[in-house]
Order: sequence, then structure tokens, then C-alpha cells
Amino acid sequence: MNIKKILSEKIHKSMIKIGIPEKYSPILRSCKKKTIGHYQVNGIISAAIYLKINPNILATKVVKYLNIKNIISKIKISKLGYINLFINNKWLSNQVNLLIMSKKLGLTTKILSENIVIDYSSPNIAKEMHVGHLRSTIIGDSIVRILSFVGHNVIKSNHIGDWGTHFGIIIAFLNLKKNKKIDLLLSNIEKLYKKAQKKYIKDVNFAKKSKLYVVKLQQKDIYCLKIWKKIVDITMNYNYQLYKKLNVKLTCHDTMGESIYNDMLSDIIIDLKKKGIAINNNGAVVVPIKGTKNIKGKSMAVIIKKKDGAYLYATIDIACIKYRYEQFKANRIIYYVDSRQNQYLKQIFQIVKKAKYVPSNMKLEHHMFGMILNKKNKPFKTREGNNIKLNDLIKESIIRAKNIIIKKNPFIKKEILEELSHIIGIGAIKYADLSKNRINNYIFNWDKMLSLDGNTSLYIQYAYVRAFSLLKKSNINLTKFLNLEINFITHYEFNLVISFLDFEEIIFKIVEKGTPHILCNWLYNITVLFTSFYENCNILNLKDDMLKISRLKIVFLTSLFLKKGLYLLGIKTTNKI
Ligand code: ARG
Repeated sequence: MNIKKILSEKIHKSMIKIGIPEKYSPILRSCKKKTIGHYQVNGIISAAIYLKINPNILATKVVKYLNIKNIISKIKISKLGYINLFINNKWLSNQVNLLIMSKKLGLTTKILSENIVIDYSSPNIAKEMHVGHLRSTIIGDSIVRILSFVGHNVIKSNHIGDWGTHFGIIIAFLNLKKNKKIDLLLSNIEKLYKKAQKKYIKDVNFAKKSKLYVVKLQQKDIYCLKIWKKIVDITMNYNYQLYKKLNVKLTCHDTMGESIYNDMLSDIIIDLKKKGIAINNNGAVVVPIKGTKNIKGKSMAVIIKKKDGAYLYATIDIACIKYRYEQFKANRIIYYVDSRQNQYLKQIFQIVKKAKYVPSNMKLEHHMFGMILNKKNKPFKTREGNNIKLNDLIKESIIRAKNIIIKKNPFIKKEILEELSHIIGIGAIKYADLSKNRINNYIFNWDKMLSLDGNTSLYIQYAYVRAFSLLKKSNINLTKFLNLEINFITHYEFNLVISFLDFEEIIFKIVEKGTPHILCNWLYNITVLFTSFYENCNILNLKDDMLKISRLKIVFLTSLFLKKGLYLLGIKTTNKI
């Protein structure tokens, strides 16, 4: 249930009834100071200016025709023409019961289910995943969870970099060695690749050979395919373990790497040429992009076939969109890729639409994100200036979480310590990232992310434990008391419960914009409100049984929202802290 939407629609009806043109709609916002009102209606003032009427008089008229008595207990109109609405306690109490019984925590808006492809994580092969893959992986995972939660058909697509020049380089390098066996350790493969890359830059002959192998691989040479497959398997098996540790839903079923589009590429080139979209250029094939100029003022073009016959990252992305539309009937594709690829992706989107590989109204979106920085505002790297391996980052977060837990509870059982340090450590890294607006860079800070107060996962996980243990200690079966009215004696109870009503609005904003930080902020706010309720109101030691149950129902509902909220972010809860 979206309370603001319900109220807005009713107010809009009333506005139309009294002759205000339809384009003037009420804008509802929650009031920070709940003594002024719970919701404030803006938007009447601009209508009043247009109609040349005193806003206060117009607002009074709007209110006269308003039919919201069951939801609202009091309405105040300010001199300036703002309408302030106060929610009826009885109605709110009923909402608590409905929310407790609802399977989807009150999400009622019916949607037209779409087929949505999420392109995320997408690491490159022959390398360990590093910190640069964190954002795409965990933001993408959260969006997958949220879109599925509202009822969309989500297709997870891990567009791994398993095709192209680097394989040619590796195969050429292996061929120079006496022992042509591939090491089974990914870290050793990565070392070999780095050496090969150096040689590729320095040695022209070696570079030529590498390029030949790329073409051979693209032509499905058996020997090349064998080496390729082995390296892909070693890399991805390593990555699947990382996904599991990170509580990310990607598995081998979601891997749709660059290689799978290979058979489509030559036809794409022919077709784009036929349609006059691609042209020959010095032996290569390019797609000129109209209306774009590079720094030198030259018009830009996307290369889709090199002189030596090799296809490129761009050719594959063009084929990939066509495939996703044809195979999955995708209505929307969202890319979680860093902001440096924004211009590139825009060009690709333009090409596939021009070629009519997808309908012109298909939603192709790049949800970009910024970089992770260190405290000095420089890219977050090792002391030696190398990329930080994701696995090392995870290990460190678990160790740090362990130390925090042991400090609080030196006698904790070993198995519990293991479990808790994973949940807390990994939750901390994920939440610290997800709680920032993805558009911006952010500074990685271990101390902040593992703090027990402030906007952290630990703070929210801890509130969940408190709620859980209260419910357990009470030993009351709350489902027996579903019809019992909630007693809003203090503002602590009221302010917490009224905030639950924003959940649906928050979720749908994220569905549209792919911004999980709004859910983090909402969860944090709920946690702050719950903590003050918990610290200021008696619950278990109350003599009044009815009030005790009323409060426990609020605690129960809070626990449901905290758990679901963290789940939608891909963060686990525990009841053992
Ligand atoms: N593997 C690429 C990289 O590491 C990201 C792929 C993003 N997805 C895509 N369809 N281009 O930069």
C-alpha cells in the first residue's frame, strides 16, 4: 500500500471536482515534525496562483470535497495554503494487522510483469575478481532481489569476458613454454597472463601470433577451444565460490559470457552493412555515430570488425542485445557497469535501435556507478598499487568482524563466532557500498562500516537481534491477537509505525531507478525509531497485558521489515549477536 499515492489520488479527485485543471496535482510529503501534521499537501498554491484565488480559500474548498475520513483524523490548513493531514490512529492500527498478515509486507500495487535482464558482475577470465567488481556484483544482486520481489521476471546475466584478445595472448604464450600444461590455480594463471601481456606489448612478432590465435579461437579451432575452456572453468569455479561467500545469487546458470554470441557476429556485420549502418574503413568495419565528436573534433565511430578479421567487445554487445530480445523477450535491460563505459553503452544502444534489433521503446539502461576510493581520495588499491583482490577484502572483513565479536563476548563458541563473523563482516562491506548513491565515488573506511552505531548493517542487524529476543522472551503467540487494536500511547510507537507506510513507495522508486541506497536510508531510519522505542518504552515488564501485546506486535512488524529489507540488499540477519 502506498499511502501517499492513495491520499494524492483522493485529493486530486477533489481538486478536479472544484474545477482546478487536471495538470495541477497535489504533491505529498511526510512532515518531519509530526506535531505540524503527518503529511503535507503542496501543489495547491501553484493552482491558486494560476486561478488567481487566495490559496487558503482554494485549499479549504479542496478539503470540503475530500473523502478520506477513515484514514485522516484531522486536517489543518495553513494561511499559505498548505494542507496538513493527521492519520487516524484506528486506521493505522488496522494497517499494522494487515501488514503482519500480508505476504509481501503490504506491497499491493499490481504491476505488469516485465522480462528484465540484469547485466551485472561480468568479471574477466584468467584474473581473480578484484575490488572493482564489487559494486556491479552487489548492486546488481540487490536489484535482482527487488525486481523479483515486486513480481518481475528477472533474467540474471553474468556477461563474463571470456572471448577476445587476452585468450590469444595466453595461448600464444603457453605455446612458447616447454611445459604447456595449464596450472590449476587461478592466481598462477593470472601471473602467466600478466607475463604474456608484457611480452605482447614489447614483442611485435609475439603480438602477431597472439592475434592469429584470437582469430583461430573465433573460428573454433579445437586446440584453442580446449585451452580456452579449461581457463574459463578454473576462473569461474573460483568466482562461484566468491558469489556464495558474498551471498550473491549468481550461479553457473546465469553465466552468459561474451563467447556465446560468437556465431551471430558475422551475420551482424553483413546485416549492418546492408542496412547502411556500418561501412568499410581501411580494411576494418565501423559504425559512424552521428552527432558525436571526439576531442579532436572528428566524428566518432564504433569499430565492429578489425582489419585482421577479429570482432570486438562492441560487436558482441550488439549481438547480445539482439539475443536478449529474441530469446528472453526482454522489455528492459539494465547494465550495472562503471561510469567509464557510459558513452560506449549509449552508442551500442543507439546502434541496436537503428538496426531495429529491438523495438524503439525497449528500455536499455546503463545504471552506472562511481569508484571506490581510499582515505586519500585515490583509487582503493594495495600499497604496491595493485588491485585489491575481492577474496582478500572478504577475508579481512571477516577477521575484523571476528575481533569485534570477541571483544564483546570473549567466551563465544567457535562455530557461532565463525557464522557471526561471516554475516557481520560481509554485511558490512555490502551495506557500506549499497548505502551510498551509486552515481558517486565513495571512500572505503573499515572503522565506519563496522561500527555499531551510525548507518551500518551491524546497527540494523543488532536491532533485529533485539527485536527477536524480545519476542522470544515474551513467549506470546501474537497471531492470536491479530484483531487487537494497537495502542499508540507514545510518539515512539506512532512514529515507527507510520514510517512502515513508506516501504512500497521506496521499493518502487528503486524498481525505476536502481538505487538501493534509498532502501538503506529507510531501514536506517526505521532502526533509529525502533531503538528509541525500545529504549524508552517498557515492553516485557508491563502489567497491562493489552499494551504489552500492542507493543510486541509493533516489535514483530519491525523485525519483519528489518529482515526483509536486509534480504533485499543481499544481507543476512542472525538472532545470535
Ligand atoms: N567485462 C566487462 C569489464 O570488466 C564488463 C561487462 C559489462 N557488460 C557488458 N554487456 N558490456 O569491463
